[in-house]
Amino acid sequence: MNMYMSANKCFHQYIKNNFDTEDEKIMHKLKHTYQVVNNAKYICEKLNLDELNTDIAMVIALLHDIGRFTQAKEMQTFREDITSYDHATLGVKLLFDNNEIRNFVSNAEYDEIIKKAIANHSKYIFDEKGLSPLEILD
Ligand SMILES: [Fe+2]
Repeated sequence: MNMYMSANKCFHQYIKNNFDTEDEKIMHKLKHTYQVVNNAKYICEKLNLDELNTDIAMVIALLHDIGRFTQAKEMQTFREDITSYDHATLGVKLLFDNNEIRNFVSNAEYDEIIKKAIANHSKYIFDEKGLSPLEILD
């Protein structure tokens, strides 16, 4: 089983255990998550990215909005302008503060790229400083 497949299994369990999948906001975010996964796969194919990096990209796509589910449950809104609630930062916290990421990805080797991608994904402009060519797909 590749990294994405096992992460996806855990992701399903995580959502089932922690959220109401009948809730419209949760359903919306689940749909969005898998659209992003499919888009990531499509882009990787177009870029002829190798299998490992495609796998990593799909894991990132799967986990990129993990903070949104908690946000939906706790705040009942996705409007960050009125709540000053940053779901990308929350996602990083949820996955890395207590090493929760190990439940999704057993190999720690890709933690940095996963963390950076999630932290940066909601920014309109992100600072490329400190990111490798692979991390920005330069
Ligand atoms: Fe997001």
